[in-house]
Amino acid sequence: MSFNLLKGKKGIIFGALDPNSIAWKTAERVHEEGGEFVLTNAPIAMRMGQIDQLASKTGSHIIPADATNLEDLENLVEKSMELLGGKIDFVLHSIGMSVNVRKGRAYTDQNYDWTQKGTDVSAMSFHKTMQTLYKKDAMNEWGSIVALTYMAAQRVFPDYNDMADNKAYLESIARSFGYFFGRDKKVRVNTISQSPTPTTAGQGVKGFDGFIAYAEKMSPLGNATALDCANYTVTLFSDLTKRVTLQNLYNDGGFSNMGVSDAVMDTFVENQE
Ligand code: NAI
Repeated sequence: MSFNLLKGKKGIIFGALDPNSIAWKTAERVHEEGGEFVLTNAPIAMRMGQIDQLASKTGSHIIPADATNLEDLENLVEKSMELLGGKIDFVLHSIGMSVNVRKGRAYTDQNYDWTQKGTDVSAMSFHKTMQTLYKKDAMNEWGSIVALTYMAAQRVFPDYNDMADNKAYLESIARSFGYFFGRDKKVRVNTISQSPTPTTAGQGVKGFDGFIAYAEKMSPLGNATALDCANYTVTLFSDLTKRVTLQNLYNDGGFSNMGVSDAVMDTFVENQE
């Protein structure tokens, strides 16, 4: 289903690693809606991933960039404007990584070099991206910037580890930078807080299968899929949401406002018998 919601719009999409990636699904949907974009990912992910397939399918160019490296980001923004023939209308930041999670280090036993690395990749990279776009005056008026987050920023999910803190920082950056981007350039900045989703990053979290099954049972509409997230992002990139900004928007089937559901309660009662 396509509504041409993004016809004539140009953008940059970070974080498509493989067909499960939320950014991959988003790139496909943005393409279907008429948007043009540059795909980017860390150079190491290019070697591991399948981004070339996505680029040919969507008629996009690929520009490698480590999102923690300012020179890479400057090159990305300049080259994207050259390739797309003008300023940028939309940006998706779909990047997350915790070394402590990857290496099984508990929240109460952090290796702080790893913590810092995770913060830089998962949160500060969003500030760096926006600062680069802002300083280069690379965004068109009424442009839209979206980053992806998770509800562990607000509530405790023990196995989410230091990513919870990184997401809280990311959401704060969206509000703080969103103020300046709105005031000075009429650009909106939002985060989408997505249900657990089976991707490479998602499945890296300890106990992910339990996590996703629990969220499914708790949510009246069930977990939002990567495609649901892509569709929501399309609306935020479109002109239909021009004055939605500084928001953390839940795309989670209702999970974030639940206390308990019948389905979860049934399991609990059964287990007591
Ligand atoms: P994914 O593993 O497909 O995507 C993560 C991406 O981050 C990869 O493409 C990876 O190459 C990229 N990346 C890592 N370090 C980078 C760097 N230094 N520079 C540039 N890119 C770098 O996984 P997924 O789930 O699609 O993740 C996308 C976003 O969605 C992340 O922010 C994640 O935290 C968020 N999210 C994921 C949920 C899930 O359950 N999968 C739930 C809520 C939010």
